[in-house]
Formats: sequence, C-alpha cells, structure tokens
Amino acid sequence: MSTPLPPSRLSGLFRRKSLTDILHNPPADAEGHGPGESGGLARHLTVRDLTALGIAAVIGAGIFSTIGNASHDGGPAVSLLFVFTAIACAFSALCYAQFAATIPVSGSAYTYAYASFGELAAWIIGWALIMEYAVGNIVVAISWSDYFTGLLDGIGVHIPSYLTMGMQSAHKHYTEVLALMQAGKPLAEASPAQLAGYQTWASAPELFGGLRLVIDLPAGLITLLITAIVYIGIKESKNASNLLVLLKLIVVATVIGVGVFYVQPGNWTPFAPNGVGGVLKGVSAVFFAYIGFDAISTTAEECKNPQRDLPRAMIYALIICTVLYVIITLVLTGMVSYKELGVGDPLAFVFQKVGLNWLAGVVAVSAVFAMASVLLVFQIGQPRIWMTMSRDGLLPPVFAKVHPKFHTPSFSTIVTGFFVGVPALLLNMDLVIDLTSIGTLFAFALVCGGILIIDPHGQSEARFKVPYINGQFLVPLVMLVGLGLLFVYNQEGLRAFGSAVRGEGGYEEFRHYIPMLVFIGFCLGLAWLSFRKRLSLLPTLGLLTNLYLMTQLGINNWLLFFGWLVIGLALYFNYGFKHSRLGLKKVAAVSQ
Ligand code: ALA
Repeated sequence: MSTPLPPSRLSGLFRRKSLTDILHNPPADAEGHGPGESGGLARHLTVRDLTALGIAAVIGAGIFSTIGNASHDGGPAVSLLFVFTAIACAFSALCYAQFAATIPVSGSAYTYAYASFGELAAWIIGWALIMEYAVGNIVVAISWSDYFTGLLDGIGVHIPSYLTMGMQSAHKHYTEVLALMQAGKPLAEASPAQLAGYQTWASAPELFGGLRLVIDLPAGLITLLITAIVYIGIKESKNASNLLVLLKLIVVATVIGVGVFYVQPGNWTPFAPNGVGGVLKGVSAVFFAYIGFDAISTTAEECKNPQRDLPRAMIYALIICTVLYVIITLVLTGMVSYKELGVGDPLAFVFQKVGLNWLAGVVAVSAVFAMASVLLVFQIGQPRIWMTMSRDGLLPPVFAKVHPKFHTPSFSTIVTGFFVGVPALLLNMDLVIDLTSIGTLFAFALVCGGILIIDPHGQSEARFKVPYINGQFLVPLVMLVGLGLLFVYNQEGLRAFGSAVRGEGGYEEFRHYIPMLVFIGFCLGLAWLSFRKRLSLLPTLGLLTNLYLMTQLGINNWLLFFGWLVIGLALYFNYGFKHSRLGLKKVAAVSQ
C-alpha cells in the first residue's frame, strides 16, 4: 500500500486525469491486473444485451408503483411530465453516450468527472452515485417486497406482518397512533397504513429495551439472492437480465394492448386538475422511473465494443421506455379517474377496477420480475463504481479486488449487498425515494456540465459525440420561452414565489424557494456564458433541465443531500486525498 501523502497543496483537489492516462494506463486492481487483462473483467456484452440491461434498470418500481401517487396529484397531465423528464434524460443520455465513447471504462459519471472537473468533483459524483445505485435499490427492494407479499397473500400464504415491514415505518406509525389515543381521539382517524404499523409493532416479538423485531424479510432476502447472482458472474447476470426484460416487455405490451379498450376519454378531462403545481409534485416519482439507462455505462469493461454499443444502447433504452411510459400513463388515467390512482400498485389496481382480476394478477407477478431486474442492474453498477474509485486510490485497495474465478469485483459486490440489504430490512421508502432522485439528477447535471468543459464546441474525435448546435442565441431564447410558458400556465406558482421572495410568509416560506433562487442566478450566468462562448446547446439544456428538476424536490431533501455530501467530503479528506494514485504520481514526478 502507498505511503499516505501529507495533506498538501489545495491544487490537488482539482487534479484531473488525462484521457490518455485513463485509456492507456488503466490502474491495476488489487492483484495487479489492469482492466481487460486475464484477471480483469470478462467482455461478454453486446448492444442487444446492453439495451436489455438499460430497460431492465429503467422499467421497475417507478412505473409499477410510484406513478400511482404522481397521477393522483397531477392527473392525466403527468404524461406530459413523462415527456419533459424524458427530454431532460435524453440530453443527459447524449452526454453520457459521448463520455462512454470517449472513456470506455467502468466508472461511469465518476470517471467522466475525473477527466473533466478534477478529483474532488469526481469523488463527489462517485459519492452521489451511491444515492442512485445503492439507495435507489433500497427503494426497489422495499417495493418488491410489497408486491411479493401481496402476491403471497393472494394465494393464501400469509407471512406475519412483523416480518414484512420495515422497523422504521412500524415504529413511526405506532407512535402516531399512540399519540392519537393519548389525545383521546377515535382510532377511526388513523389511516389504514398507520393502523397496520401500530398493530405490527404492538404484536411483534420484543428484542430488548422496548425494541421490537420488525423487519422486511423479503426485501432483505431478494437483495441477498440478487447479490449472489451478481457475485457469480456478469454472464449469468446478463442471461437473467435478458430473460426478465423479455417477460417485462410482454406484460407491459399486454397492459397497454388490453387497457386501451377500457379507456374512457372523459377521464382525461380535466387534463391537469391541480394545475402545473400538481403535475410537478410527481417530479421525484417520474424521474425515478427513468433512472437506470445510465447504469449500463458502468459495464464498459465488460462490453465487446463499448465505444459503438454503449451510446446506441443508452439511447435505444431511453426511447423504448419513454414511449411505453407515456402510453401507460394515458391508458392508466383513461381507465379510471385520477382521483382513485393514489395506490401503491396502480397497474394491477386499474384492471381490478374494470373487473379483469386475472390480468391484475398477471401484472402483479410481472411487477415482481420487473423490480427484480432493476435490482440486478443496480447491484451490478454500484460495485463497479467502487472498484474504479479504488483503482484510483480514493477507496482502499480491497474494493478493487476481482474474483479470480468469477471475474467480478467480489469485495465491492458483497459490501453493496450489505449496504442495500440491511437498510431494506429496516427503513421505509418515502425518505429514500427523494434522495435517490436528487442524487441522480445531480450526477446527470455534472455529466452534462462535463461535456461543456471537455468539448464545448462539439469538436471531439470520439466515435459518438453530442451533435453541436450553437447555443449563443438559442440558450437565452429557450430560457425566455420557458419563462413565457410559466407565465401562461403557472400563474399560481409564480404568485406563491413572488410572495415568498417578498418575505410575506417569513423565513419558513422563503427557505423553500432558495433552490429556485440559486437556479435563477445560475440560468443568468449560463445564458451569458453561452452567448459569450457559443456553448453547445444540447449539453447546456441538459444541465438546465436537470437542475430545474432538482429545484422541485424540496429544501429538506436538499439539506439531507448536503448532509450526505459532507460525510463524503470528510471521508475524502481523511483517505482519498492522501492516497490518490494521481496525486502520488504527480508528487513522484515532481521529486524526480
Ligand atoms: N427506474 C427504476 C425503477 O423505476 C429505478 O425502478
């Protein structure tokens, strides 16, 4: 192991890896093998496998579950939010694709940031990606468990509720109901979820000191199973993923094909019952539904032809999923009134409502498969990011260990299993879903910004590059159009913003608009920069749309996200900064 560096010059924070260095001198793993060598990862993946992996990562808990509440709040107009979010994702996908074609190694956005912004930003993005992959997988594991236990109930197999619920949810609901009772209020005032949590906690076996045994066992077990598959090998993972995707697409097509005959166009009016504000409430859920197309860039070292296939696969996956999502949302909101859609299993629910119980059952079974395949892709992605960070010296060497027989990052895979599996046993998912979206949007924004830095005028020699359109006048124009649309369609939102900024609601009201104020300042700066430097339009719009979506996620999530970043920075300054291979190399070069 290297001798720790004294925490020296601050310039080290911005040391950048050169593309030549990344491509031609890849750091060795713990056993001394570079990528692609005999001890490196095995190259099995083709464009079809990658597209399948992308779809496997994208279609999951978002469309099967969280879309329900989004439609309830926003009405049929949520389909437009799907289109808007897809456009934001498409800008990011193009940028990811250019990076993947330029730097076909495993680290995804982390490696791209290392080449464009420097080491500190790379670390931050690697840290934020944990939110996308590992924290996102906690959400998926918990949703999976909900559908799975529902299915078991449907066939008469009942697992005690204290083994199918997170400790956090049960305890929270228990205290809420207790407070209700102590206030002398009737139990009828509690929601079904609160009552279920109360009963579960009250009837669960006591461990010690008042703590009860309440765990979401299916969520933990599915994480264990998927981790085992990922540990054994990418080839096995690929086969499992292709099979799951096929099943998923057949079922989604069936839902659309059958559901379309039950659509009553009257349900589409009003189209946006709660205005733009209602639609925007769904940002987190809708964005969550798209997360994953970028995950395939983590498998760059396992692709047969990454520079050609990764860009294509990312874009194919995104197009296929967008078309399916928009149609599904329209079908869903056309079949029943949006008012009824605030449920956790909306796709199964709408078929129950129209009397097609058998199809509702098929959808529920497919949701179990769909979510398992999302788990699979993210469980593949996270260890590969850690592996790359470890090769760079930012994490201890053991994270880069590749299994001699299975050729997978063994230690990192096991750590990911624990990192996802243990919280999935205990936590409730409301908290983790927003964190996943904010962390991922942040990573996407940095990837778009990275393209603006390494290739602001689309002159790269990469085999795939974002088409260059001069943003000199178009960026300010698009901003003006966006502002005009807000004036026309979101008067209410603008009024609330104005009143908060004038301080009419005090600091409590004002603080919710801080992200928006920062965003406005950023827009002005970027408009000026685009005008001066003729920045490439598409990455600039990618940056703006991702940041805009972030502003919609609420100040409390921003604070949690900053908390997460602070922990990450503490780790970086205590380990990564001192052990960075790039830093050591530069010091060695200076002292020669
Ligand atoms: N897009 C993935 C899902 O919806 C994360 O489950």
